[in-house]
Amino acid sequence: MSKRVRTAVFPVAGLGTRFLPATKAMPKEMLTVVDRPLIQYAVDEAREAGIEHFVFVTGRNKGVIEDHFDRQFELEATLESRGKTKALEELQKDLPSAGRTSFTRQQEPLGLGHAVWCARDIVGDQPFALLLPDMIFQAKPGVLKQMMDAYEERAGNIVGVEECAWEDVSSYGVVVRGDGPDEGFVINGMVEKPKREEAPSNLFISGRYILQPEIFALLAEQTRGAGGEIQLTDAMQSLMGQQPFTGVKYRGKVYDCGSKLGFLTANVVFALDRPDIRPGFIEELRKLDLEDKL
Ligand code: G1P
Repeated sequence: MSKRVRTAVFPVAGLGTRFLPATKAMPKEMLTVVDRPLIQYAVDEAREAGIEHFVFVTGRNKGVIEDHFDRQFELEATLESRGKTKALEELQKDLPSAGRTSFTRQQEPLGLGHAVWCARDIVGDQPFALLLPDMIFQAKPGVLKQMMDAYEERAGNIVGVEECAWEDVSSYGVVVRGDGPDEGFVINGMVEKPKREEAPSNLFISGRYILQPEIFALLAEQTRGAGGEIQLTDAMQSLMGQQPFTGVKYRGKVYDCGSKLGFLTANVVFALDRPDIRPGFIEELRKLDLEDKL
């Protein structure tokens, strides 16, 4: 049986330059889709998948994320005195239990691989999940839960993938698909941000991973790859020589909130999916006479 995955790592050190000026003083992970910050979606997905310990790799100007996962006594007292019990319960439900969060800093922006490596001492010698909070999903069950189900049956490392348009492959890591069904197939290789004509597939790595701790030693030695950064994909490719990698083409759809278009689309889609917002939102959209404007 595979060793249980209890810990998840969330790299949240990125500068968010694509969202300036919104992210000048505010972490991009706190941008909201409807009324929840991006990071909350990733934490919710991890909890649904059974994660118990949440490790955030932060950077300068990211203190608000730590505050977000703490209690806010003044706010709670005010909600209570005003009888807003539902809002209060919701806030408390979103919090990980006391002592179940850790924060460490990536001191320099050296890439995703380096950010993950910064979590090595906290994670220790155990498998862990990795969730990139820019990427949020419409999926039931959640994407990490679907990957955990695949992990239960196989040893090694699991990577979530989805098809993208061929013109987008150069923005992502993509995998070489081997034998097996969508729920769990052999990955024979992967490459970070390939040119369209060199991409081995359009199955892209959409920001959800289950990794074995041996990745840390490889990350420690990893030289700079695409974009001059220490790339997780390169270290995974090296680990593939020692351990199996399984791809899960999950049921669901990703919204890349690291891009403005993905972020705006996610806001529309997630709003339409919320029973409390949908009817009013549809009415407002109708009033816009979109047909004329598009
Ligand atoms: C990172 C990974 C890439 C993955 C992507 C998903 O790239 O390196 O393999 O496809 O996240 O968002 P980044 O977005 O940091 O350039």
